[in-house]
Amino acid sequence: MTKLSNDLALSEFRGMVVVPGARYTSQEFFDLEMERLWPRVWQVACREEEVPNPGDFLEYTIGDQSILVVRSEQDTITAFFNACAHRGTRLASGTGNFATSEIRCRYHAWRWDLDGEIIEVVDRQNYPPALTDEDVHLGEVQVGRWGGFVFVNMDPKCEPFDAFLGDIPELFASYRMEELRFRSYRTIVFECNWKTAVDAFNEAYHPQGLHPQMLTWFDDTRFSYAAVGQHSLYGEEEYRRELAPSPRLGLSSDDYDQEELLADRIDAVAGLFSREDRGRLEELRRNGPPEGKSAADVFNDIRVSALRDRYDLGSLTDDQILRNGTIHVFPNLIGPLVHGNATLYRARPNGLDPDSTLLDYWALEWVPTGGEAPAIEHKFYEDWSIKDWGLINNQDFGNMVEITRGMKSRGYRRGLLNPVQEANIVHHNQILDRYLADE
Ligand code: FES
Ligand SMILES: [Fe+2]
Repeated sequence: MTKLSNDLALSEFRGMVVVPGARYTSQEFFDLEMERLWPRVWQVACREEEVPNPGDFLEYTIGDQSILVVRSEQDTITAFFNACAHRGTRLASGTGNFATSEIRCRYHAWRWDLDGEIIEVVDRQNYPPALTDEDVHLGEVQVGRWGGFVFVNMDPKCEPFDAFLGDIPELFASYRMEELRFRSYRTIVFECNWKTAVDAFNEAYHPQGLHPQMLTWFDDTRFSYAAVGQHSLYGEEEYRRELAPSPRLGLSSDDYDQEELLADRIDAVAGLFSREDRGRLEELRRNGPPEGKSAADVFNDIRVSALRDRYDLGSLTDDQILRNGTIHVFPNLIGPLVHGNATLYRARPNGLDPDSTLLDYWALEWVPTGGEAPAIEHKFYEDWSIKDWGLINNQDFGNMVEITRGMKSRGYRRGLLNPVQEANIVHHNQILDRYLADE
C-alpha cells in the first residue's frame, strides 16, 4: 500500500472530507495519476461510430500515452499500444483506415494483421530462430464496449469490464446510448487540471453563483446525488410538472408568470428540439397554454410527442421519457442525459502538464427512424475563449481557469466541499485514491 503524503491525502476535518488543493495543482499528484490511475482504469477511448468500417483506426491519447483503437472486423474492435514491437516507432496517428488490413511500421517495414499478429519481420533469417511470433506481437490493450462507447484499459490484469460498470448499464438502459450519434464533436484545450474540468459539471451547487440566470426556470434545490459503484449521478428526483423558479429567488407566485418562465426555459434548452418543434414552442410562447393546462404540461407534451414522432420508444411511458439526470462515469466522462440527447464532456490530461486538459465536448443524439447520422466533424480549439460556446458554457469554461489560478494561491490549502451537494466530487476523489493506493 502506498500512502499519500499528508499534503495530498484526503482527510477528515470537523466531520467533513477535505480535499487538498495539491491534488489538482501538483506535479507529484499528477505523476501518481499517470502511473497508477490511467494505466489501470477503464476509460472511454472513443465512440464506435468513429471507427465504423473494418480497418478503421483511431488514436486515443491520454497524457503521454497513445493507444490505437482498430476495428479489426465488422463486429470486433481491438486496441494496441501505439508502439512498434521492433524499436518503438509510433505506428499511426489521428484517424484513418489500414486499407490493406495490415499495420505497417514506417521505419523497417515490419507488418502486423489487425489482431496484432506479426505478418512479416523483414529479413527474419538474420534473427535467431528462437524468436517467436509472440515476441513481436503488438502490445495489446483491453477493450470493453457499452452504450456505443469503446473503453480501453492498459492493464492486462484489470478488473472485469462488467464489474467496473456495475449498475450503470441497467440504470441507463432506457437512454439507449448505443443509438446516440455525434451532432458535434469539439476538443478544447483548457489551462486547468482534468479533475477541475470534471468537477465543473459534477454538482448543481454552483448555478446559483455562476449561472444566476438559470434560476428563473431551474429549481436547483430539488437535486439529489448518488454514488453508483465507482461512478455517480445526480438530478431532480422527478421531472418538473410545474414551472417554478428556484426558491432562492424568494419570489411568490404573483411575482412571475408561467409563460415568462417557459420562455426562459425554452431559450435555455432549445438545442433539445428540432426546428419544427421549436416552432410549436414559439406558438406556445405567443399564445400561452390552452385552458386547464399549465405551460409546463404543454411543454412536456411537446417534448414527448416530438420524441415519439421521431423515434420508436417502445413501451416507455411519458414519465420515463421525461426523466433525465447527469451521469459521471469514473474517472473522466460526465454530462446530462435526456432521452434522445446527451451532452457529454470527457476531460483528459494534455501531455504531462497538470494544468493542461483536453476537454472533448460531445453533443450526441439519436438518429430519427429512417434518418441517417450526420458525418462526424471534429473541430479542435487551442484556446477556448476564441469562440462563443453559449452563455452557460462560457461561464463554466471561464471559471475553470479562475479555479486553477486561485488554487495556486499560497493561501489556499484545501477544499471544504459541501457534504451534500458536492458529495459526488468527494466520491470521485475517494475512488481515485483507491487506484492510487492499490498495489
Ligand atoms: S521500428 Fe518499427 S519496424 Fe523497426
Ligand atoms: Fe455550470
